[in-house]
Amino acid sequence: MSNRLPVDHVSGKGTDAVWRTSPGGLVAALEPVMRERDGVWIGWPGMPDVEFEPFEADGIDLIPVPLSADEVENYYEGFSNDTLWPLYHDVISPPSYHREWWEAYQRVNRRFADAALAVAAPNAIVWVHDYQLQLVPKMLRDARPDLIIGFFNHIPFPPYGIYSQLPWRRQIIDGLLGADVVGFQRVADAGNFARAVRRLHGYETRGNLINVRLEETQAEMTLRHQAKARRGQPVRTVLARPFPISIDAQQFQRLAADPKIRARAKEIREELGNPRVLMLGVDRLDYTKGIRHRMKAFGELLEDGVFTSEEVALVQVASPSRERVDAYAQLRDEVEIMVSRINGDFSQLGHPGIHYLHQGYPREEMVALYLAADVMLVTALRDGMNLVAKEYVASRTDQDGVLILSEFAGAADELRQALLVNPHDIDGLKAAIVHAIRMPQRERMRRMRALRKRVLSHDVQRWSATFLDALVREDHNDPANRLDIPKRAVLPLDYGGD
Ligand code: F6P
Repeated sequence: MSNRLPVDHVSGKGTDAVWRTSPGGLVAALEPVMRERDGVWIGWPGMPDVEFEPFEADGIDLIPVPLSADEVENYYEGFSNDTLWPLYHDVISPPSYHREWWEAYQRVNRRFADAALAVAAPNAIVWVHDYQLQLVPKMLRDARPDLIIGFFNHIPFPPYGIYSQLPWRRQIIDGLLGADVVGFQRVADAGNFARAVRRLHGYETRGNLINVRLEETQAEMTLRHQAKARRGQPVRTVLARPFPISIDAQQFQRLAADPKIRARAKEIREELGNPRVLMLGVDRLDYTKGIRHRMKAFGELLEDGVFTSEEVALVQVASPSRERVDAYAQLRDEVEIMVSRINGDFSQLGHPGIHYLHQGYPREEMVALYLAADVMLVTALRDGMNLVAKEYVASRTDQDGVLILSEFAGAADELRQALLVNPHDIDGLKAAIVHAIRMPQRERMRRMRALRKRVLSHDVQRWSATFLDALVREDHNDPANRLDIPKRAVLPLDYGGD
Protein backbone atom coordinates (compact mmCIF):
# COMPACT_ATOMS: atom_id res chain seq x y z
CA MET A 1 0.00 0.00 0.00
CA SER A 2 1.10 3.51 -0.75
CA ASN A 3 -0.64 6.86 -0.84
CA ARG A 4 -0.69 6.86 -4.63
CA LEU A 5 -1.41 4.07 -7.04
CA PRO A 6 1.16 3.72 -9.83
CA VAL A 7 -1.34 5.44 -12.12
CA ASP A 8 -3.18 8.73 -11.64
CA HIS A 9 -6.66 9.22 -12.98
CA VAL A 10 -6.72 12.04 -15.56
CA SER A 11 -10.28 12.00 -16.94
CA GLY A 12 -13.23 9.84 -18.01
CA LYS A 13 -15.06 6.96 -16.38
CA GLY A 14 -15.26 3.20 -16.72
CA THR A 15 -13.60 1.92 -19.87
CA ASP A 16 -13.12 5.53 -21.08
CA ALA A 17 -11.00 6.43 -18.06
CA VAL A 18 -7.62 7.93 -18.95
CA TRP A 19 -4.67 7.23 -16.63
CA ARG A 20 -1.06 8.38 -16.54
CA THR A 21 1.96 7.15 -14.59
CA SER A 22 2.15 8.78 -11.16
CA PRO A 23 5.06 11.07 -10.31
CA GLY A 24 7.89 10.28 -7.92
CA GLY A 25 10.51 7.75 -7.02
CA LEU A 26 8.25 5.47 -4.98
CA VAL A 27 6.17 4.45 -7.98
CA ALA A 28 9.21 4.12 -10.24
CA ALA A 29 10.79 1.74 -7.73
CA LEU A 30 7.77 -0.36 -6.79
CA GLU A 31 6.25 -0.81 -10.23
CA PRO A 32 8.73 -3.47 -11.42
CA VAL A 33 8.58 -5.21 -8.04
CA MET A 34 4.79 -5.49 -8.11
CA ARG A 35 4.75 -6.61 -11.74
CA GLU A 36 6.90 -9.60 -10.82
CA ARG A 37 4.79 -10.62 -7.83
CA ASP A 38 1.33 -11.83 -7.13
CA GLY A 39 -0.43 -9.32 -4.95
CA VAL A 40 -2.51 -6.17 -5.01
CA TRP A 41 -1.50 -2.54 -4.74
CA ILE A 42 -3.76 -0.38 -2.60
CA GLY A 43 -3.64 3.38 -3.11
CA TRP A 44 -5.34 6.63 -4.03
CA PRO A 45 -6.05 7.22 -7.75
CA GLY A 46 -4.71 10.80 -7.57
CA MET A 47 -7.98 12.74 -8.03
CA PRO A 48 -10.51 13.85 -5.41
CA ASP A 49 -14.03 12.47 -5.29
CA VAL A 50 -13.65 9.61 -7.77
CA GLU A 51 -14.54 6.02 -6.92
CA PHE A 52 -13.27 3.09 -8.94
CA GLU A 53 -13.71 -0.64 -8.66
CA PRO A 54 -10.47 -2.64 -8.43
CA PHE A 55 -8.82 -2.95 -11.86
CA GLU A 56 -5.67 -4.15 -13.52
CA ALA A 57 -3.07 -1.87 -15.13
CA ASP A 58 0.04 -3.17 -16.90
CA GLY A 59 -0.11 -6.51 -15.12
CA ILE A 60 -0.65 -5.07 -11.62
CA ASP A 61 -3.91 -5.50 -9.68
CA LEU A 62 -4.96 -2.19 -8.17
CA ILE A 63 -7.42 -1.38 -5.39
CA PRO A 64 -8.28 2.33 -5.41
CA VAL A 65 -8.96 4.11 -2.11
CA PRO A 66 -11.09 7.24 -2.64
CA LEU A 67 -10.34 10.62 -1.06
CA SER A 68 -12.77 13.54 -0.89
CA ALA A 69 -11.64 17.04 -1.90
CA ASP A 70 -11.60 17.91 1.77
CA GLU A 71 -9.32 14.94 2.56
CA VAL A 72 -6.98 15.80 -0.28
CA GLU A 73 -6.65 19.25 1.26
CA ASN A 74 -6.24 18.16 4.89
CA TYR A 75 -4.61 14.71 4.75
CA TYR A 76 -2.53 14.92 1.53
CA GLU A 77 -1.68 18.60 0.97
CA GLY A 78 -1.95 19.46 4.66
CA PHE A 79 -0.66 16.87 7.11
CA SER A 80 1.39 14.80 4.65
CA ASN A 81 2.96 17.57 2.60
CA ASP A 82 2.85 20.67 4.79
CA THR A 83 3.49 19.04 8.18
CA LEU A 84 5.38 15.74 7.81
CA TRP A 85 7.26 16.48 4.58
CA PRO A 86 9.01 19.68 5.77
CA LEU A 87 9.47 18.24 9.29
CA TYR A 88 11.12 15.08 8.01
CA HIS A 89 13.31 17.10 5.62
CA ASP A 90 15.02 18.99 8.44
CA VAL A 91 12.50 21.88 8.43
CA ILE A 92 13.95 23.38 5.21
CA SER A 93 10.51 24.99 5.01
CA PRO A 94 8.58 25.57 8.26
CA PRO A 95 6.03 22.81 8.99
CA SER A 96 2.45 23.76 9.88
CA TYR A 97 0.64 21.97 12.68
CA HIS A 98 -3.15 21.89 12.48
CA ARG A 99 -5.41 19.64 14.51
CA GLU A 100 -7.94 19.27 11.72
CA TRP A 101 -5.17 18.02 9.41
CA TRP A 102 -4.23 15.43 12.03
CA GLU A 103 -7.90 14.35 12.27
CA ALA A 104 -7.99 13.83 8.50
CA TYR A 105 -4.67 11.92 8.57
CA GLN A 106 -6.04 9.48 11.14
CA ARG A 107 -9.31 9.05 9.23
CA VAL A 108 -7.60 8.37 5.91
CA ASN A 109 -5.04 6.00 7.46
CA ARG A 110 -7.99 4.08 8.90
CA ARG A 111 -9.56 3.85 5.44
CA PHE A 112 -6.35 2.48 3.95
CA ALA A 113 -6.06 -0.04 6.80
CA ASP A 114 -9.66 -1.17 6.26
CA ALA A 115 -9.02 -1.60 2.54
CA ALA A 116 -6.11 -3.95 3.33
CA LEU A 117 -8.05 -5.82 6.01
CA ALA A 118 -10.83 -6.50 3.52
CA VAL A 119 -8.53 -8.34 1.10
CA ALA A 120 -5.63 -9.74 3.14
CA ALA A 121 -5.67 -13.54 3.41
CA PRO A 122 -4.78 -15.17 6.75
CA ASN A 123 -1.07 -14.63 7.47
CA ALA A 124 -0.74 -12.36 4.45
CA ILE A 125 2.18 -9.96 4.05
CA VAL A 126 1.14 -6.32 4.03
CA TRP A 127 3.86 -3.90 3.00
CA VAL A 128 2.99 -0.29 3.83
CA HIS A 129 4.92 2.53 2.17
CA ASP A 130 5.88 6.02 3.18
CA TYR A 131 5.10 8.85 5.53
CA GLN A 132 1.50 9.33 4.44
CA LEU A 133 0.52 5.99 6.04
CA GLN A 134 2.49 5.76 9.28
CA LEU A 135 -0.52 4.87 11.43
CA VAL A 136 -1.53 1.91 9.28
CA PRO A 137 0.86 -0.74 10.72
CA LYS A 138 -0.63 -0.49 14.24
CA MET A 139 -4.18 -0.39 12.88
CA LEU A 140 -3.51 -3.62 11.01
CA ARG A 141 -1.82 -5.33 13.96
CA ASP A 142 -4.58 -4.41 16.40
CA ALA A 143 -7.20 -5.86 14.05
CA ARG A 144 -5.26 -8.83 12.65
CA PRO A 145 -2.25 -10.07 14.63
CA ASP A 146 -1.82 -12.89 12.10
CA LEU A 147 -0.61 -10.45 9.41
CA ILE A 148 3.07 -9.98 8.65
CA ILE A 149 3.49 -6.23 8.45
CA GLY A 150 6.34 -4.28 6.88
CA PHE A 151 6.76 -0.52 6.64
CA PHE A 152 9.23 1.32 4.45
CA ASN A 153 9.90 5.04 4.82
CA HIS A 154 11.02 6.51 1.48
CA ILE A 155 11.97 9.86 2.96
CA PRO A 156 14.41 10.75 5.76
CA PHE A 157 13.53 10.26 9.42
CA PRO A 158 14.66 13.39 11.26
CA PRO A 159 16.83 13.74 14.38
CA TYR A 160 14.83 13.75 17.63
CA GLY A 161 15.44 17.47 18.22
CA ILE A 162 13.39 18.14 15.09
CA TYR A 163 10.97 15.22 15.28
CA SER A 164 9.98 16.19 18.81
CA GLN A 165 8.21 19.31 17.46
CA LEU A 166 5.41 17.11 16.22
CA PRO A 167 2.42 17.37 18.58
CA TRP A 168 1.48 13.77 17.66
CA ARG A 169 5.00 12.34 17.91
CA ARG A 170 3.99 9.44 20.19
CA GLN A 171 1.07 8.33 18.04
CA ILE A 172 3.24 8.21 14.92
CA ILE A 173 5.89 6.10 16.67
CA ASP A 174 3.19 3.79 18.00
CA GLY A 175 1.75 3.49 14.51
CA LEU A 176 5.11 2.48 13.04
CA LEU A 177 5.91 0.03 15.83
CA GLY A 178 2.88 -1.98 14.73
CA ALA A 179 5.12 -3.32 11.93
CA ASP A 180 7.44 -6.34 12.22
CA VAL A 181 10.07 -4.56 10.14
CA VAL A 182 10.45 -0.78 9.76
CA GLY A 183 12.79 0.05 6.90
CA PHE A 184 14.66 3.29 6.25
CA GLN A 185 16.91 4.61 3.49
CA ARG A 186 20.01 5.46 5.52
CA VAL A 187 21.77 4.25 8.63
CA ALA A 188 21.19 7.72 10.10
CA ASP A 189 17.40 7.49 9.57
CA ALA A 190 17.15 4.16 11.39
CA GLY A 191 19.30 5.60 14.21
CA ASN A 192 17.08 8.68 14.50
CA PHE A 193 14.01 6.44 14.70
CA ALA A 194 15.51 4.22 17.41
CA ARG A 195 16.46 7.33 19.42
CA ALA A 196 12.90 8.68 19.13
CA VAL A 197 11.55 5.33 20.34
CA ARG A 198 13.89 5.35 23.33
CA ARG A 199 13.11 8.97 24.22
CA LEU A 200 9.36 8.64 23.91
CA HIS A 201 8.77 5.11 25.19
CA GLY A 202 11.95 4.05 26.93
CA TYR A 203 11.87 0.74 25.04
CA GLU A 204 15.13 -1.16 25.00
CA THR A 205 16.96 -1.18 21.65
CA ARG A 206 19.80 -3.58 20.76
CA GLY A 207 21.48 -2.82 17.44
CA ASN A 208 18.64 -2.84 14.90
CA LEU A 209 16.15 -4.45 17.25
CA ILE A 210 13.54 -2.71 19.35
CA ASN A 211 11.83 -4.55 22.19
CA VAL A 212 8.27 -3.26 22.28
CA ARG A 213 6.74 -3.96 25.69
CA LEU A 214 3.39 -5.69 25.52
CA GLU A 215 0.40 -5.92 27.78
CA GLU A 216 -0.06 -9.52 29.00
CA THR A 217 -3.59 -9.51 27.65
CA GLN A 218 -2.67 -8.76 24.06
CA ALA A 219 -4.02 -11.40 21.72
CA GLU A 220 -0.96 -11.22 19.48
CA MET A 221 1.14 -12.93 22.16
CA THR A 222 -0.58 -16.20 21.45
CA LEU A 223 -0.01 -15.94 17.74
CA ARG A 224 2.97 -15.50 15.44
CA HIS A 225 4.85 -13.16 17.69
CA GLN A 226 5.39 -15.25 20.73
CA ALA A 227 6.43 -12.57 23.14
CA LYS A 228 9.77 -13.10 24.81
CA ALA A 229 10.00 -12.15 28.45
CA ARG A 230 12.70 -9.57 29.08
CA ARG A 231 13.18 -8.52 32.66
CA GLY A 232 9.84 -10.08 33.47
CA GLN A 233 7.99 -8.04 30.81
CA PRO A 234 6.69 -9.64 27.61
CA VAL A 235 8.06 -7.98 24.47
CA ARG A 236 7.60 -8.10 20.72
CA THR A 237 10.70 -7.50 18.65
CA VAL A 238 10.64 -4.98 15.81
CA LEU A 239 13.51 -4.82 13.33
CA ALA A 240 14.31 -1.20 12.34
CA ARG A 241 17.18 -0.90 9.87
CA PRO A 242 18.25 0.67 6.59
CA PHE A 243 17.31 -0.92 3.26
CA PRO A 244 18.56 1.60 0.66
CA ILE A 245 16.09 1.54 -2.22
CA SER A 246 17.14 1.32 -5.85
CA ILE A 247 15.88 1.17 -9.43
CA ASP A 248 15.18 -1.44 -12.08
CA ALA A 249 18.72 -1.04 -13.42
CA GLN A 250 18.27 -3.57 -16.25
CA GLN A 251 15.30 -1.65 -17.57
CA PHE A 252 17.39 1.53 -17.79
CA GLN A 253 20.23 -0.37 -19.48
CA ARG A 254 17.77 -1.79 -22.00
CA LEU A 255 16.31 1.63 -22.77
CA ALA A 256 19.79 3.11 -23.08
CA ALA A 257 20.67 0.48 -25.69
CA ASP A 258 17.54 1.19 -27.77
CA PRO A 259 18.65 2.76 -31.11
CA LYS A 260 15.61 5.08 -31.13
CA ILE A 261 16.50 6.45 -27.70
CA ARG A 262 20.16 6.83 -28.64
CA ALA A 263 19.17 8.73 -31.78
CA ARG A 264 16.92 10.94 -29.67
CA ALA A 265 19.86 11.69 -27.34
CA LYS A 266 21.87 12.89 -30.32
CA GLU A 267 18.95 14.93 -31.54
CA ILE A 268 18.60 16.60 -28.11
CA ARG A 269 22.21 17.80 -28.27
CA GLU A 270 21.68 19.10 -31.79
CA GLU A 271 18.50 20.91 -30.77
CA LEU A 272 20.49 22.60 -28.01
CA GLY A 273 23.08 23.80 -30.55
CA ASN A 274 25.66 21.09 -29.78
CA PRO A 275 27.10 22.68 -26.63
CA ARG A 276 30.56 21.53 -25.61
CA VAL A 277 29.09 20.43 -22.27
CA LEU A 278 25.49 19.60 -21.47
CA MET A 279 24.50 19.65 -17.82
CA LEU A 280 21.21 18.22 -16.57
CA GLY A 281 18.97 18.49 -13.52
CA VAL A 282 15.83 16.35 -13.16
CA ASP A 283 13.59 16.83 -10.15
CA ARG A 284 10.06 17.22 -8.93
CA LEU A 285 9.74 20.97 -8.34
CA ASP A 286 10.34 20.65 -4.60
CA TYR A 287 12.21 22.89 -2.16
CA THR A 288 14.16 19.88 -0.89
CA LYS A 289 15.89 19.40 -4.25
CA GLY A 290 18.25 22.38 -4.11
CA ILE A 291 17.25 23.61 -7.57
CA ARG A 292 17.88 27.26 -6.67
CA HIS A 293 21.33 26.43 -5.26
CA ARG A 294 22.47 24.73 -8.46
CA MET A 295 21.10 27.59 -10.58
CA LYS A 296 22.90 30.11 -8.42
CA ALA A 297 26.20 28.27 -8.88
CA PHE A 298 25.60 27.95 -12.62
CA GLY A 299 24.61 31.64 -12.95
CA GLU A 300 27.74 32.77 -11.07
CA LEU A 301 29.97 30.67 -13.34
CA LEU A 302 28.41 32.41 -16.35
CA GLU A 303 28.91 35.75 -14.63
CA ASP A 304 32.53 34.95 -13.76
CA GLY A 305 33.14 34.20 -17.45
CA VAL A 306 34.27 30.62 -16.71
CA PHE A 307 32.14 29.56 -19.70
CA THR A 308 29.48 31.05 -21.96
CA SER A 309 25.93 29.85 -22.52
CA GLU A 310 27.03 28.71 -25.98
CA GLU A 311 29.71 26.45 -24.50
CA VAL A 312 27.79 25.02 -21.57
CA ALA A 313 24.02 24.44 -21.50
CA LEU A 314 21.97 23.53 -18.44
CA VAL A 315 18.69 21.67 -18.94
CA GLN A 316 16.53 21.72 -15.84
CA VAL A 317 13.47 19.46 -15.87
CA ALA A 318 11.29 20.46 -12.91
CA SER A 319 8.15 18.36 -13.00
CA PRO A 320 5.02 19.92 -11.45
CA SER A 321 4.35 18.74 -7.90
CA ARG A 322 1.93 19.54 -5.03
CA GLU A 323 1.04 22.79 -6.73
CA ARG A 324 -1.68 23.80 -4.29
CA VAL A 325 0.66 23.79 -1.30
CA ASP A 326 1.86 27.39 -0.69
CA ALA A 327 5.55 26.51 -0.22
CA TYR A 328 5.55 24.81 -3.65
CA ALA A 329 3.77 27.70 -5.40
CA GLN A 330 6.29 30.08 -3.84
CA LEU A 331 9.24 27.93 -4.89
CA ARG A 332 7.95 27.88 -8.46
CA ASP A 333 7.89 31.70 -8.50
CA GLU A 334 11.41 31.89 -7.08
CA VAL A 335 12.85 29.36 -9.53
CA GLU A 336 11.17 30.99 -12.50
CA ILE A 337 12.33 34.48 -11.53
CA MET A 338 15.84 33.09 -11.17
CA VAL A 339 15.74 31.37 -14.58
CA SER A 340 14.58 34.52 -16.32
CA ARG A 341 17.18 36.69 -14.54
CA ILE A 342 20.05 34.35 -15.43
CA ASN A 343 18.80 33.99 -18.98
CA GLY A 344 18.22 37.72 -19.32
CA ASP A 345 21.75 38.47 -18.16
CA PHE A 346 23.75 35.71 -19.84
CA SER A 347 21.88 34.13 -22.77
CA GLN A 348 23.25 34.52 -26.26
CA LEU A 349 20.91 34.47 -29.25
CA GLY A 350 19.87 30.86 -29.77
CA HIS A 351 21.70 29.82 -26.58
CA PRO A 352 19.70 30.43 -23.42
CA GLY A 353 21.71 29.81 -20.25
CA ILE A 354 19.10 27.56 -18.66
CA HIS A 355 16.61 25.43 -20.57
CA TYR A 356 13.83 25.21 -18.01
CA LEU A 357 11.06 22.66 -18.51
CA HIS A 358 8.15 22.65 -16.06
CA GLN A 359 6.83 19.36 -17.40
CA GLY A 360 6.90 15.65 -16.75
CA TYR A 361 8.32 13.29 -19.40
CA PRO A 362 8.01 9.59 -20.19
CA ARG A 363 10.87 7.34 -19.12
CA GLU A 364 12.16 6.98 -22.72
CA GLU A 365 12.71 10.73 -23.00
CA MET A 366 14.39 10.79 -19.59
CA VAL A 367 16.86 8.12 -20.67
CA ALA A 368 17.59 10.08 -23.86
CA LEU A 369 18.32 13.13 -21.68
CA TYR A 370 20.57 11.06 -19.39
CA LEU A 371 22.49 9.80 -22.43
CA ALA A 372 22.82 13.30 -23.83
CA ALA A 373 24.06 14.86 -20.57
CA ASP A 374 27.77 15.09 -19.80
CA VAL A 375 27.13 16.16 -16.22
CA MET A 376 24.19 15.25 -13.98
CA LEU A 377 23.44 17.64 -11.11
CA VAL A 378 21.75 16.23 -8.01
CA THR A 379 22.03 18.95 -5.37
CA ALA A 380 19.26 18.06 -2.91
CA LEU A 381 19.32 19.84 0.46
CA ARG A 382 17.80 16.68 1.94
CA ASP A 383 16.55 13.62 0.09
CA GLY A 384 15.59 10.12 1.22
CA MET A 385 17.49 8.45 -1.62
CA ASN A 386 17.25 10.29 -4.98
CA LEU A 387 16.65 7.68 -7.65
CA VAL A 388 17.45 10.10 -10.48
CA ALA A 389 21.13 9.75 -9.51
CA LYS A 390 20.88 5.97 -9.89
CA GLU A 391 18.89 6.24 -13.14
CA TYR A 392 21.62 8.40 -14.66
CA VAL A 393 24.29 5.91 -13.69
CA ALA A 394 22.34 2.87 -14.95
CA SER A 395 21.68 4.61 -18.29
CA ARG A 396 25.38 5.38 -18.93
CA THR A 397 26.19 2.13 -20.68
CA ASP A 398 29.06 4.02 -22.37
CA GLN A 399 30.69 4.29 -18.89
CA ASP A 400 30.99 8.06 -19.38
CA GLY A 401 29.38 11.07 -17.72
CA VAL A 402 29.91 12.79 -14.36
CA LEU A 403 27.51 12.67 -11.43
CA ILE A 404 27.59 15.62 -9.03
CA LEU A 405 25.76 14.41 -5.94
CA SER A 406 24.71 16.10 -2.73
CA GLU A 407 25.99 14.46 0.43
CA PHE A 408 22.50 15.10 1.86
CA ALA A 409 20.87 12.63 -0.55
CA GLY A 410 20.61 9.03 0.64
CA ALA A 411 22.33 7.91 -2.57
CA ALA A 412 25.56 9.51 -1.31
CA ASP A 413 26.01 6.62 1.17
CA GLU A 414 26.42 4.24 -1.76
CA LEU A 415 27.64 6.35 -4.69
CA ARG A 416 30.94 7.41 -3.19
CA GLN A 417 32.67 7.88 -6.56
CA ALA A 418 30.36 10.72 -7.53
CA LEU A 419 31.61 14.28 -6.98
CA LEU A 420 30.09 14.75 -3.55
CA VAL A 421 29.04 18.28 -2.68
CA ASN A 422 27.47 20.33 0.06
CA PRO A 423 24.90 22.32 -1.96
CA HIS A 424 24.77 25.09 0.66
CA ASP A 425 28.40 25.86 -0.16
CA ILE A 426 28.00 27.70 -3.47
CA ASP A 427 31.76 28.09 -4.01
CA GLY A 428 32.21 24.36 -3.41
CA LEU A 429 29.41 23.62 -5.85
CA LYS A 430 30.99 25.89 -8.47
CA ALA A 431 34.34 24.14 -8.00
CA ALA A 432 32.66 20.74 -8.47
CA ILE A 433 30.96 21.92 -11.68
CA VAL A 434 34.27 23.19 -13.04
CA HIS A 435 35.97 19.94 -12.05
CA ALA A 436 33.22 17.94 -13.77
CA ILE A 437 33.52 19.98 -16.95
CA ARG A 438 37.30 19.65 -17.06
CA MET A 439 37.55 16.06 -15.85
CA PRO A 440 39.69 13.89 -18.15
CA GLN A 441 37.85 11.01 -19.78
CA ARG A 442 39.98 8.43 -17.94
CA GLU A 443 38.85 9.76 -14.58
CA ARG A 444 35.23 10.05 -15.73
CA MET A 445 35.21 6.45 -16.83
CA ARG A 446 36.96 5.18 -13.73
CA ARG A 447 34.36 6.83 -11.53
CA MET A 448 31.41 5.82 -13.68
CA ARG A 449 32.52 2.18 -13.81
CA ALA A 450 32.59 2.05 -10.02
CA LEU A 451 29.21 3.77 -9.74
CA ARG A 452 27.69 1.38 -12.24
CA LYS A 453 29.03 -1.63 -10.42
CA ARG A 454 27.14 -0.55 -7.31
CA VAL A 455 23.86 0.37 -9.04
CA LEU A 456 23.74 -2.71 -11.26
CA SER A 457 24.45 -5.11 -8.41
CA HIS A 458 22.09 -3.39 -5.94
CA ASP A 459 18.92 -2.97 -7.95
CA VAL A 460 15.33 -2.67 -6.81
CA GLN A 461 14.71 -6.41 -7.20
CA ARG A 462 17.49 -7.06 -4.70
CA TRP A 463 16.11 -4.34 -2.41
CA SER A 464 12.61 -5.82 -2.30
CA ALA A 465 13.91 -9.39 -1.92
CA THR A 466 16.10 -8.27 1.01
CA PHE A 467 13.22 -6.46 2.70
CA LEU A 468 10.71 -9.27 2.23
CA ASP A 469 13.27 -11.80 3.34
CA ALA A 470 13.85 -9.87 6.58
CA LEU A 471 10.09 -9.63 7.02
CA VAL A 472 9.38 -13.35 6.86
CA ARG A 473 12.49 -14.34 8.78
CA GLU A 474 11.35 -15.17 12.27
CA ASP A 475 14.73 -14.56 13.82
CA HIS A 476 15.70 -10.96 13.41
CA ASN A 477 19.12 -11.72 14.82
CA ASP A 478 19.88 -13.90 11.82
CA PRO A 479 23.22 -12.90 10.22
CA ALA A 480 21.43 -12.88 6.85
CA ASN A 481 19.88 -9.59 8.03
CA ARG A 482 23.30 -7.97 8.08
CA LEU A 483 23.75 -4.73 6.23
CA ASP A 484 25.53 -4.26 2.95
CA ILE A 485 26.39 -0.59 2.74
CA PRO A 486 29.90 0.55 1.88
CA LYS A 487 31.81 1.81 4.89
CA ARG A 488 32.05 5.59 5.11
CA ALA A 489 35.44 5.91 3.52
CA VAL A 490 37.41 9.09 3.00
CA LEU A 491 35.52 11.30 0.57
CA PRO A 492 36.95 10.95 -2.92
CA LEU A 493 36.85 14.73 -3.22
CA ASP A 494 35.72 17.38 -0.83
CA TYR A 495 34.47 20.66 -2.18
CA GLY A 496 33.69 21.99 1.28
CA GLY A 497 34.76 25.51 2.19
CA ASP A 498 36.82 24.12 5.06
O1 F6P B 1 8.93 9.25 -1.71
C1 F6P B 1 8.43 10.48 -1.65
C2 F6P B 1 7.05 10.69 -2.27
O2 F6P B 1 6.29 11.51 -1.48
C3 F6P B 1 6.26 9.45 -2.54
O3 F6P B 1 5.52 8.98 -1.46
C4 F6P B 1 5.42 9.90 -3.66
O4 F6P B 1 4.94 8.87 -4.41
C5 F6P B 1 6.34 10.82 -4.45
O5 F6P B 1 7.22 11.34 -3.51
C6 F6P B 1 5.64 11.91 -5.22
O6 F6P B 1 4.90 12.72 -4.36
P1 F6P B 1 3.35 12.97 -4.53
O7 F6P B 1 2.65 11.65 -4.50
O8 F6P B 1 2.97 13.85 -3.38
O9 F6P B 1 3.17 13.63 -5.86
